[in-house]
Amino acid sequence: MATGLTSLAFSDTGASRPASLTAGTSAAPCATPKGRPWCDTSLPPGTRAKLVVKALTGDEKLALLAGDDLVGPLRATDDARFRAGTVHGVARLGIPDLYLVDAGSMGVKQGPNTALAAGLSLAATFDTAAAGRAAGVVADEAAHRGNDVVLGPAVDIVRTPKGGRTFESYGEDPLLASRMGVAWIRTVQKAGLLAEVKHFPANNQEENRYAVNAVIDQRTLREIYLAPFEAAVRQGKVASVMCGYNLVNGRPSCSGKTLLDGVLRKQWGFDGMVVSDWGLAAKDTEGSIKAGLDLEMPVGVRYTPPALASALTSGKITWADIDARLQARLRVMFAYGMFDKPKRANDGEAGYTRNAATAQDLAEQGITLLKNTGGVLPLNTGTKVAVIGRAADQFRSGIGSMYVKPTSTTTPLQGIIARAGAGNVTYNDGSDPQAAADTARAAQVAVVVAADARAEDADVTCLTLKCGTAKDQTLGDQDALIDAVAAANPNTVVVLQTGGPVLTPWAAKTKGIVETWYAGQRGGAAIARVLYGDTDPGGRLPVSFPATEGDAPASGDPAHYPGTGGKVTYAEGVNIGYRHYDTRKITPAFPFGHGLSYTTFKLTGLKATRTAVTVTVTNTGKRRGLAVPQLYLGLRAAPGAAQPPKQLKGFTKAGLAPGQSVKVTFPLDARAFAYWDQRTRAWKRAPGCAKAMVGTSSRTIDLTGTIC
Ligand code: GLC
Repeated sequence: MATGLTSLAFSDTGASRPASLTAGTSAAPCATPKGRPWCDTSLPPGTRAKLVVKALTGDEKLALLAGDDLVGPLRATDDARFRAGTVHGVARLGIPDLYLVDAGSMGVKQGPNTALAAGLSLAATFDTAAAGRAAGVVADEAAHRGNDVVLGPAVDIVRTPKGGRTFESYGEDPLLASRMGVAWIRTVQKAGLLAEVKHFPANNQEENRYAVNAVIDQRTLREIYLAPFEAAVRQGKVASVMCGYNLVNGRPSCSGKTLLDGVLRKQWGFDGMVVSDWGLAAKDTEGSIKAGLDLEMPVGVRYTPPALASALTSGKITWADIDARLQARLRVMFAYGMFDKPKRANDGEAGYTRNAATAQDLAEQGITLLKNTGGVLPLNTGTKVAVIGRAADQFRSGIGSMYVKPTSTTTPLQGIIARAGAGNVTYNDGSDPQAAADTARAAQVAVVVAADARAEDADVTCLTLKCGTAKDQTLGDQDALIDAVAAANPNTVVVLQTGGPVLTPWAAKTKGIVETWYAGQRGGAAIARVLYGDTDPGGRLPVSFPATEGDAPASGDPAHYPGTGGKVTYAEGVNIGYRHYDTRKITPAFPFGHGLSYTTFKLTGLKATRTAVTVTVTNTGKRRGLAVPQLYLGLRAAPGAAQPPKQLKGFTKAGLAPGQSVKVTFPLDARAFAYWDQRTRAWKRAPGCAKAMVGTSSRTIDLTGTIC
């Protein structure tokens, strides 16, 4: 029986106090186990959690369901004493504080830390080992800032290329997002921190994000939007899930019992803690408690002691409900040793030098060469290069909760100057296109660096470089600038520092196009190494680049995006990203999976069975290069389940010397051949035979086979 309320007066837990910069607590809470049966480490975490919950008073219980620091999120960018989330513990029982830090793809947001390349760049590596290395940097720096939970990875699928947070995501394909997310989670959690995968279950736009109701059919939910979360839970064993702001099929993400309890906990066996997004995500008290929201952040709005007390008094919730929520959170804290180890020190002693080098290497792995004609790239040392554009002299990043203040920066201009050799680089910021053209004309090669400005809380209003920068007026009309430079110098290379797809109307006028994404604090050095061929461009597109706005998925009808009357209907179903272009037979400007190497490859010897597809990759060029062969399956339609022409079912990355061959294997499991059958509400194997396609992009299929 849970203890009743002793009083409604509660001590003010709202006071925010900066996390100390000094060492963490010297002793583990359970270092003094006397009178604390929950300190018995021979007991399973769940049992320990039940024991400690039993020892709590009613007041203490109600104060433990929400965070306690409103100031942290506001000051975390610049001040290492602050972080996104602080939840006070109960010293009387040795329940430790819980510290949560924003650590999406770009690094740890708690004072200056290593600013990594954005999620889209990591996805572009098509390399789960890269995701692991990025997570290693995050874990190292989050731990040395005294944290327990990192608020990442963001695995939201890119449904509209206009999404403000596209740069944080892992792109438009659920398999790619799943595998990158799982690799990231495993590394963070192996380092002893809790990952918090976000934003469950379908937060795919910034427009009206706090209230929009996403209407999504079950099959699309399962095969596309839930897939990365299912992988995070089942394969990644993720410790925490963050439920998002918006509604899905009429239910708030943080109180939709069907998904939060029915699917996440009951079907997938999730045994961690569910945490709300920051403010406005928990939409009610009893609904959230009943659905399984364990912790409201950054402070209580719905989970204030008075609101909880009145829900208890009215019988809408019970003490057993409260206990269940506390047990869920405390269980995972026991499981991660938070009662048995001292709290980490906020000492800032992470390996920043090593981490910055890793950041640069990862950025290089994600840089995607979209076009390279006339041998304009790689550049030769000594080539006279004109660097054009304001963005060339800036550190570009996304705006919002994931922004990390870098410990240092190398801009593209600085990187190119350092690499080109003295006296070989001229620069013009492009504010006067005529002057820029004159500078370009005087050089052998002109490199125009352009950027967009994506941000949380705001989708971009269009996909051109011109208006995609509504948040940053310093960039001007970059399309016009590129036109002017290309007219002045036929050897023009465009370097895009964007957080998502952009239109490239000037593509035919330029010889080279390189997408570097938001490339992190050493992005300039990474870009220079790729431009000069010191390393092969390792990236492949995790998002399709449309030729026109109207070609893009979810475009054309406001009801489908951004929504009308507070409702956005995912009418396209599973046909998002390349599935959309393939189904609608639309040719994208640059397709999903596309990316050039400085060498060439040949794929031969396809063998396809139900458990694996193998193929041999050969470097047929004169330089070492990175191959990213991709496996797609074409499943046969079933009643009520039309199928897109192909779906990504495997990918790998291989560095090959000239003439070298390697045999790659794409393992396949039953799920690879399955679709979600709405009638039986279960995964079902697609009928008949499947078509196996292996290629170097979703549109460049070299080999096909059949699997029956
Ligand atoms: C934000 C974001 C979420 C972030 C959280 C804490 O609103 O939606 O991704 O982790 O708040 O800053």
